[in-house]
Amino acid sequence: MSKRFTITAALPYTNGPIHIGHLAGVYVPADIYARFLRLQGHDVAFICGSDEHGVPITIKAKKEGVTPQDVVDRFHANIKTSFEAFGISFDNYSRTSAKIHHETASEFFKMLYDKDAFIEETTAQLYDAEANQFLADRFVVGTCPKCGNEESYGDQCEACGTTHNATDLINPKSAITGAIPTLKETKHWFLPLDKHEAFLKKWILEGHKTDWKPNVYGQCKSWIDDGLRPRAVTRDLDWGIPVPVEGGDGKVLYVWFDAPIGYISSTKEWAQREGKDWEPYWKDEDTTLVHFIGKDNIVFHCIMFPAMLKAEGSYILPENVPANEFLNLEGQKLSTSKNWAVWLPEYLQDFPEKQDVLRYVLTATAPETKDNDFTWKDFQARNNNELVAIFGNFINRVLVLTNKYYEGLVPSPKTFSKIDTDTLEKVKAFPASLSKSIERYRFREASQELMNLARLGNKYLADEEPWKVIKTDPERVQTIMYVALQISAALAIVSEPFLPWSSQKLKTMLQLPTHSWAAVQTGEPLLAATHKIGTAELLFAKIEDSEIEQQLEKLAQSKLANTIANKVVEPQKETVSFEDFSKLDMRVGTIIAAEKMPKAKKLLVLQVDIGIDVRTIVSGIAESFTAESLVGKRVTVLVNLAPRALRGVESQGMILMTETPEGKLVFVNPDAAQEAANGLKIS
Ligand code: 2FM
Ligand code: ZN
Repeated sequence: MSKRFTITAALPYTNGPIHIGHLAGVYVPADIYARFLRLQGHDVAFICGSDEHGVPITIKAKKEGVTPQDVVDRFHANIKTSFEAFGISFDNYSRTSAKIHHETASEFFKMLYDKDAFIEETTAQLYDAEANQFLADRFVVGTCPKCGNEESYGDQCEACGTTHNATDLINPKSAITGAIPTLKETKHWFLPLDKHEAFLKKWILEGHKTDWKPNVYGQCKSWIDDGLRPRAVTRDLDWGIPVPVEGGDGKVLYVWFDAPIGYISSTKEWAQREGKDWEPYWKDEDTTLVHFIGKDNIVFHCIMFPAMLKAEGSYILPENVPANEFLNLEGQKLSTSKNWAVWLPEYLQDFPEKQDVLRYVLTATAPETKDNDFTWKDFQARNNNELVAIFGNFINRVLVLTNKYYEGLVPSPKTFSKIDTDTLEKVKAFPASLSKSIERYRFREASQELMNLARLGNKYLADEEPWKVIKTDPERVQTIMYVALQISAALAIVSEPFLPWSSQKLKTMLQLPTHSWAAVQTGEPLLAATHKIGTAELLFAKIEDSEIEQQLEKLAQSKLANTIANKVVEPQKETVSFEDFSKLDMRVGTIIAAEKMPKAKKLLVLQVDIGIDVRTIVSGIAESFTAESLVGKRVTVLVNLAPRALRGVESQGMILMTETPEGKLVFVNPDAAQEAANGLKIS
């Protein structure tokens, strides 16, 4: 029976491009889910848009000397293009700067205001006198009162996920000027979450204990158990939706008040375009509402937005909020500011037409129950060992052999053996097992089940060996190829939510008539005898080591750039007179012998020819060089440093060294040392 679904994916902040973390955490699973439901014949509204308000956007605009509108225009286009490029099949992608959103959010606020759903209160808020600005949300950093993280933002701590009021921060500091904030009185509207506590307890703690993911349920429980408090839903800022009631001049709606309403306004925009009624998608009890989000958004989607919807009174509540954990990259947290990410526009440049590969790898390693790691080696392995070697290899064999033996016509099967009927029975069972995983938001498991169907086909061909049997029993091969073609068709159909391009390519190669998901389940022939298939093309291509090395090199460059950017340059020492400087006697020398100082990790004992004599110098460079590599090395030596004993060996000078950004020691001035004779003075 066809049902109505409203599927939302978190509206991304419009202050940067999209990276693999966003894709893995939210958009790929949401897209698989939406495509899966459409394939079942359900009525789906898959909704998203750009989240264009909030402090990070104004901070970025200030930094670049442009307006916030410039920033959101640039990234809205960039993000929208990425989503389209990766086949994220939104029915509508809107933006919160759209007129329809401003109107919808204002009306929503007014509706709650008229129902007395807010507390209006003048309180002392953090203020930066230097910047002449109230400090809310990301304009202020300080110590999280819950976990002690010293870099918590005013509204949320990224370390423990708690949301709080800016005034709760310990040792707050302005993110604009670094000033210690003062307190200044200002009026705001608060949503009294405490008043909704009983409803939230019943709805979540009693109603969703078993069907919500443990990470989501656990976070909700911990917030509710801690006791909910009123949350300000307005801000003293000039970027956002103006507060539409008396006394709201100069104030805007809190970004987390307006953003989730963006789902509703985006649905309205879609419905207007399609000539539909938007209301059933948000107000009909028969509609299933599902929010796909990352774990840092849980409180807003499970506590705050439902409290808003409930207070308004005519909306349905989400049936599930399948939040994912975070994806790391090569063992390190993804970070926009540190450029530690795989940006989608760059990925597409480096791997054009490999969108399905990334979709597959991100699904197979999705951070569903805990944070997970994306590595380029794993990306290569999953492509080469799974997509190419299993899925692609099976399809290629089937198409090539069908074209070779039967000029592309599906052969009529003869007698089915047990292995044939068993195999076809197994194929019939896949839609149900895939559905079961997807309906429980286990996309990782589903992607492996999909690969198992390709494995089944691969094994069937490997066991039945049509390429051998053709010589002795061509009739048997007709049956084998018929069965293999049915498996290929089933793969083309059920892979669509995961691998939309490859599924389409395969459908074209098979010239497959349109079939529903259910057709695979009933076991009806998907490709009839005498149906003509098309030509074989490779579905997936191998990824070479050199391509992976290039990506790793890119990351190494980011790391290096960060190390350089973060290097603290020591302040200059007190000036010295020329006389003092000329007391230093520096010469060019050559290391003629080197050995490790016994029982000392860092020390090498060097014999250095400095032109005047050959002398012993003890140097703390054993962690950067082996003794053997130093023999013959030209160096710069401070020769009149007063001798001192190190571990009983008298050191009669010092070799000048410096450090690379990675902390590796290198010799100072090696060029001059290469060309000058030993003993020449350096001045
Ligand atoms: O975390 C984020 O990127 C937010 N912009 C998500 C907003 S989701 C919704 F409420 F719009
Ligand atoms: Zn914290």
